[in-house]
Amino acid sequence: MKQEIHFVTGKGGVGKSAVAAALALKLSQTGQRVLLVELGDQSFFRDFFDLPNVSFQPMQMRPNLSLALWSGDTCLREYATYLIKVESLSKLFFDNAVMRAFINVAPGLPELAIMGKITSGPRKHGPPLPFDCVVVDAFATGHFKALLEAPKGMAQAVQFGPMGEQSRSIDRCIRDSELCKYHIVTLPEELPLKEAIELRNDLKSEFSIDAELILNKMLEIPVSDEKIVQAESDPNLRDFALYLQHHSTRQKEMLSIAKKETDRLQTVPLFFETDPWKIVSSIAGRLA
Ligand SMILES: Nc1ncnc2c1ncn2[C@@H]1O[C@H](COP(=O)(O)OP(=O)(O)O)[C@@H](O)[C@H]1O
Ligand SMILES: [Mg+2]
Repeated sequence: MKQEIHFVTGKGGVGKSAVAAALALKLSQTGQRVLLVELGDQSFFRDFFDLPNVSFQPMQMRPNLSLALWSGDTCLREYATYLIKVESLSKLFFDNAVMRAFINVAPGLPELAIMGKITSGPRKHGPPLPFDCVVVDAFATGHFKALLEAPKGMAQAVQFGPMGEQSRSIDRCIRDSELCKYHIVTLPEELPLKEAIELRNDLKSEFSIDAELILNKMLEIPVSDEKIVQAESDPNLRDFALYLQHHSTRQKEMLSIAKKETDRLQTVPLFFETDPWKIVSSIAGRLA
């Protein structure tokens, strides 16, 4: 299956999850079967969308849109089960203290298992994943790099046998720009933008990945500059008007810094909404 994989990353709190959900929603609305994947042990979307349960197995949230929660541990377990075919054997394997100790110290093994699962569709390896698109609400910047580095690291450590072979195939897959798309979400603010640009450059130099930047929560000021200047003569509005003016200038500066870095750039406004599905569909409406 020629499955497309989208990775959404960025500094914590910038709107990574909301943008990932929006991208997944948008793709699902074109008729593709989409799987939104959260990484880790705890589901953010369970609380955000008020869902009954979110687990390893995909659950449908909307037409063409399912959600799953994958951790290193659950991905390893499923893979071992797939290889061994007999669940009781894999339980034995995983609940064994020696095996657990190995899993806990083998550098990058959980990350490798996650990447193996994410790329299992195009690599045609592992249990079937019947989706046209996988959108990953991935780890934040530093941990995200560790996720991408794991296959290469393992391929260098274990050069022969199936482990080396699988690691190389995952590594090839994540560098394939036809299969994998990368989106770095940031705020139009100095520190998150700096971190996003650094990550973009690292992805470029280490993996030849050309990631897109998404400047999220851009404040769209619905009044003219003249109105704001006028408001400055009103003592009640003066501080607020000055703040808005300052904010708007900074935002323009951040946008021009981002533009200098790449033309693979999108902006998403800050929506004055509180309902999660409204926020997500508003963002989806603005994504290219
Ligand atoms: N463009 C936006 N407009 C309005 N609210 C947003 C927007 N992007 C994100 N949010 C809200 O900001 C909060 C943080 O976003 P979230 O996606 O959880 O960040 P992250 O996953 O990067 O930690 C959430 O409550 C989310 O609904
Ligand atoms: Mg999140």
